[in-house]
Amino acid sequence: MNKASRRDFLDWIIRGGIFTTLAGMVLPALTYLWPVMRRGPMTGVIEVGPEDTIPVWSAKKVVHGGSAFLVIRTANGFKAFSAVCTHLGCIVSWESTKRQVECPCHAGFFDLEGRVVSGPPPRPLPSYTVNVVNGTVFVKL
Ligand code: FES
Repeated sequence: MNKASRRDFLDWIIRGGIFTTLAGMVLPALTYLWPVMRRGPMTGVIEVGPEDTIPVWSAKKVVHGGSAFLVIRTANGFKAFSAVCTHLGCIVSWESTKRQVECPCHAGFFDLEGRVVSGPPPRPLPSYTVNVVNGTVFVKL
């Protein structure tokens, strides 16, 4: 192997390493920032499970079709909301002590109606209809 071809080979290896490193940094960032809502709406009736598996003032997060929703059991029944934050698409969670839905990404908070309480989310969480049939919880998306 002469000097020129060895140098070309090393240049190729270095460029490939730089490209791979940049792709490894940029692609996860884009995946994080790309709003999940662009994947399209979820539809259908989803069986969440037996109602007694969700104690009062607790919640169950359900992943469905590449997205997620949250089923919250209150003292007056069940509520269901999209678990995708309306700000940048992070997955929200139920905070039982505050009785609020919170988004950990930028401190967004939603009330029990899905309305924005504080933080940057621009819209309420979409809500879904919940039915309990023979002790089993169903959510209509
Ligand atoms: S993504 Fe939820 S507050 Fe920013």
